[in-house]
Amino acid sequence: MSAFDDDLMADRTVFVAGGTSGINLGIARRFAQLGARVAVAGRNPEKAKTAADSIGPGALGLSADVRDYEAIRGAMEQVAAELGPLDVVVSGAAGNFLAPAAKMSANAFRTVVDIDLNGTFNVFRGCYDLLRTPGASLIAITAGQAVNAMPMQAHACAAKAGINQLVRVLAMEWGPDVRVNGISPGPIAGTEGMARLAPDDSTRAAHYARIPMKRWGEIEEVAEAAVFLSSPSASYVSGTILDVDGGSQLGDATRNDTSKGLA
Ligand code: HXC
Ligand code: NAP
Repeated sequence: MSAFDDDLMADRTVFVAGGTSGINLGIARRFAQLGARVAVAGRNPEKAKTAADSIGPGALGLSADVRDYEAIRGAMEQVAAELGPLDVVVSGAAGNFLAPAAKMSANAFRTVVDIDLNGTFNVFRGCYDLLRTPGASLIAITAGQAVNAMPMQAHACAAKAGINQLVRVLAMEWGPDVRVNGISPGPIAGTEGMARLAPDDSTRAAHYARIPMKRWGEIEEVAEAAVFLSSPSASYVSGTILDVDGGSQLGDATRNDTSKGLA
């Protein structure tokens, strides 16, 4: 079910950094379904081509590492030249793994910050003069780690917190022509992220109970939020982080179980 007309994104050009798998690919697919011209980029060229083929005819799949400013800028220049000025840019590339800070190497910490935070700066800075303005929509894919401290997530927590602040600063500097927002997905089923963070059945079962919606989210539910933020319905929404997380950020919902008394 969707609130959006089938041609809502006709004549729009959409670039999704990190759009070659998972949530970001789902976002790219949804914009294409709604009529947009779409390009995705990741490090692996074969994966990028497969992703573009899965999106449909005319979609571009490019290889670029978001840690390399010239590479990601070059990819976005190519997209603007072939598909037209960019109306929507999504920055979703990320790296993550569970590691305690005391055993994490400096390079491990730096690698995640470099992909997530520096990568988002590179994508947004690099697209700035390629945007169709007014009306352009930039969306960073962040995570609950930005506001909730989590063990074994020092790198991701620091990186995603930085992304949230970057979103707010760019919204201030780049309005009124460009709106800049973030989406903070909760745990999303069938993704690499959750395969890494909750690898076994017992971890997952315990996790569902803590979420107010009692389930993980679907990729398509995140994609709908990205479309909303880039639609005329969100024309006065800028500098916000939209949680698409089933209420996860509210805390542990097992405390709703009053049979156990007040915890
Ligand atoms: C400890 C690790 C590690 C691990 C890598 N490193 N994996 N340290 N535990 N499991 C260390 C390495 O030893 C190395 O440090 C440093 O990190 C860089 O590793 P490389 O393999 O050289 O990096 P690179 O090839 O650039 O790969 C980046 C990566 C990789 C992040 C390490 O996992 C990757 O490509 N990930 C992309 C896919 C991904 O992570 N998707 C999930 C996103 S989901 P040393 O010191 O040895 O040199 C997500 C979820 C958010 O973000 C929230 C969900 C709720
Ligand atoms: P995923 O499938 O691993 O997707 C990561 C994407 O980023 C891939 O296309 C990957 O392709 C690309 N990428 C990784 N490093 C890159 C780099 N250095 N340069 C360019 N592209 C790079 O991940 P996911 O689980 O769907 O997560 C997607 C986003 O949602 C991330 O921002 C993540 O933090 C966020 N998120 C996820 C969840 C969840 O439940 N999964 C929850 C909250 C937030 P290559 O490997 O080919 O580069």
